[in-house]
Amino acid sequence: MIPRRPEPELMLEPGQARAYAEADFAQPHEGFVDAFTEVFPEPVRGPVLDPGCGPGDVSLRFAARHPDCEVDGLDGAPAMLAAGDALCAGHPAADRVHLAEGCLPDARGPRAPYATIICNSLLHHLHDPGVLWQVIRRDGAPGARVFVMDLRRPDSEAEVKRLVAEHAADAPEVLRRDFEHSLHAAFTPEEAQGQLAAVGLEGFRVRVTSDRHMVIHGRLPERRG
Ligand SMILES: C[S@@+](CC[C@H](N)C(=O)[O-])C[C@H]1O[C@@H](n2cnc3c(N)ncnc32)[C@H](O)[C@@H]1O
Repeated sequence: MIPRRPEPELMLEPGQARAYAEADFAQPHEGFVDAFTEVFPEPVRGPVLDPGCGPGDVSLRFAARHPDCEVDGLDGAPAMLAAGDALCAGHPAADRVHLAEGCLPDARGPRAPYATIICNSLLHHLHDPGVLWQVIRRDGAPGARVFVMDLRRPDSEAEVKRLVAEHAADAPEVLRRDFEHSLHAAFTPEEAQGQLAAVGLEGFRVRVTSDRHMVIHGRLPERRG
């Protein structure tokens, strides 16, 4: 197994943010919403927290699929939020999606506690992964639905190269570089399981869902521990 190599937490470069916001993530992001619905089939109502929301593509797709919810997104990178303006403009769910600047763990979801927390591709950016699980415990309501999707670190350098070639061959250079760095920065399912155990969330499930993704989901305990 290759060692973890963290990348910068925040995506602060305007060129990087623009390329990310303009990339076509329809398949993985619709897949995120589909996978959430398979795990939690009941309707989602009320406020939803999306930490590390970036330009808000997942927030918008989630809100479009769940017309009775509102999504509060938080991100520490102004460039990523600004790049999201174009995605929000004219989107049918935009009036129910509220993206705000805030760096975790200091920033809090404005309507905590949340009964639903979604999070895509934040975990691998965090130098201390415990930050995500602490934020979820702090801002989630007892019994809250939690659904996290992230990259998982490949076994070898050769597999990193193969994944970049297979999934980002036609992407702009800045996105290919970011994808490669992100694969190096990602956690393994076993590491994620250890992170959950450290915060008393060992009941959460960690599942490998593709050659590069894992999902982590569960309900927060009914009583705060
Ligand atoms: C790969 S992007 C994912 C964006 C979005 N969730 C998506 O799926 O498109 C990761 C985002 O997390 C943000 N981020 C990383 N560390 C953060 C922190 N400590 N607090 C707030 N945002 C953070 C970055 O700025 C970046 O926008």
